[in-house]
Amino acid sequence: MKNFIGLLIILLLGLWISAVEAAFFNLPQLPPAEEYGNILINRASVANNVKSVSFSHWQHRLKYTCRVCHSELGFNMKTNTTEITELANRKGKYCGACHNGKIAFRHNGNCDKCHNGNIAYAQGKFDVFSKFPFARTSYGDGINWVESLSQGTLSPAKYVKTKSQDISFDKMLVLDSEMSIIPPSIFPHKAHTAWLDCDSCHPEIFNIKKKTTKFFSMSYILRGEFCGVCHLTVAFPMDDCRRCHPGMREG
Ligand code: HEC
Ligand code: HEC
Ligand code: HEC
Ligand code: HEC
Ligand code: HEC
Ligand code: HEC
Repeated sequence: MKNFIGLLIILLLGLWISAVEAAFFNLPQLPPAEEYGNILINRASVANNVKSVSFSHWQHRLKYTCRVCHSELGFNMKTNTTEITELANRKGKYCGACHNGKIAFRHNGNCDKCHNGNIAYAQGKFDVFSKFPFARTSYGDGINWVESLSQGTLSPAKYVKTKSQDISFDKMLVLDSEMSIIPPSIFPHKAHTAWLDCDSCHPEIFNIKKKTTKFFSMSYILRGEFCGVCHLTVAFPMDDCRRCHPGMREG
């Protein structure tokens, strides 16, 4: 009898989760696929009489892993916190590490390509994806970056100037929930270290010991902490429950 009631609760909860998950977790509204991961940088632009700067993650991650920009070149993972300046760019730092007329269009004289104030600026180039045999998803930018990488459709560079040391760590973690009825979330190190360095996550976002990170729950994740640092803005979004909780029922 006890087992039966337990089973009933699990079944009801399964239904409940798929019915009201979005409302319950108050998931943020997603932009159109071609704008997911696009940002407007405006720490200093408008104050200095130029339009804010458009930057598209999908356009750049076709060619570069995250670590190129977020480890090697020093961009923070929070918009408007990096001190990118016109002078620094000219000296070959930040955007200027590539936008130098060799790797990508020159920094001088192409002001409007960056300072256009248009978050949808890269839109016209989004059909590059229709020509690729990518596995598509229904969420975020709609691109399955994990599969595209493993199939070799993409081979984003790991560095531009300084070769990084490759530390491989493939451990798959199963993160059990505080609520025992919730199917656990998986955390595959491999899918992450293909794009990121250890120091993108350790020790600032996560402790380096399983289940020791404090306040590690969905409400904090949805406020942009932990997995939410990337899975609300650039990597596939929180709406894709089953990609993290494979045991959860289809909604
Ligand atoms: C070509 C450079 C480049 C690459 C590659 C890149 N980023 Fe970024 N990213 C940036 C810049 C620039 C910013 C804004 C920094 C600022 O304004 O201080 C940013 C911001 C972010 C933010 C904050 C977004 C927000 O809405 O506030 C996150 C999260 C992020 N990046 C994650 C990633 C991940 C994950 C990858 C790899 C899948 C990646 N980035 C690849 C340059 C890059
Ligand atoms: C490859 C992209 C890119 C190009 C091209 C570019 N900029 Fe910028 N620029 C940036 C970024 C990113 C920032 C930092 C934006 C911010 O924080 O508001 C910036 C900042 C600035 C600022 C803010 C104040 C300062 O001194 O840093 C000015 C002014 C500026 N750029 C002028 C220009 C002019 C003029 C051109 C053309 C000759 C130009 N930029 C070309 C990316 C670019
Ligand atoms: C690691 C190298 C690299 C860095 C760093 C980088 N870019 Fe780029 N960017 C490229 C390349 C390569 C392209 C050309 C992509 C293509 O083939 O369409 C590009 C394209 C662009 C475009 C598209 C222009 C168009 O007409 O389609 C914009 C806008 C842009 N970058 C802005 C920026 C800004 C702003 C920064 C800094 C915040 C930045 N990029 C940093 C390599 C880089
Ligand atoms: C990017 C990965 C990721 C996605 C996507 C995701 N979750 Fe989670 N979720 C976690 C992690 C990590 C935890 C904390 C550890 C655990 O409970 O397994 C968690 C915990 C939970 C919990 C336990 C209670 C709590 O608040 O911590 C529930 C319920 C839950 N998730 C439901 C969902 C639903 C519904 C969705 C889809 C709308 C979803 N999750 C999408 C990673 C994710
Ligand atoms: C995208 C984020 C991310 C990246 C990148 C990352 N990790 Fe982790 N790592 C985690 C999370 C999440 C945990 C679990 C933390 C918890 O449960 O409190 C973890 C746990 C660990 C653990 C403890 C495992 C256990 O079973 O207790 C080790 C060791 C570890 N990581 C090493 C690494 C190394 C080495 C790298 C680089 C090659 C790396 N990690 C890159 C997110 C990351
Ligand atoms: C620093 C950024 C970052 C953080 C933090 C992060 N991820 Fe990811 N994650 C990525 C990127 C980038 C990918 C590649 C797929 C993509 O971009 O959509 C990825 C892929 C995954 C995948 C692989 C899905 C597949 O199809 O194989 C899972 C599962 C996942 N993340 C779960 C998590 C969980 C759970 C957490 C928190 C414990 C987390 N991630 C934290 C950036 C991050």
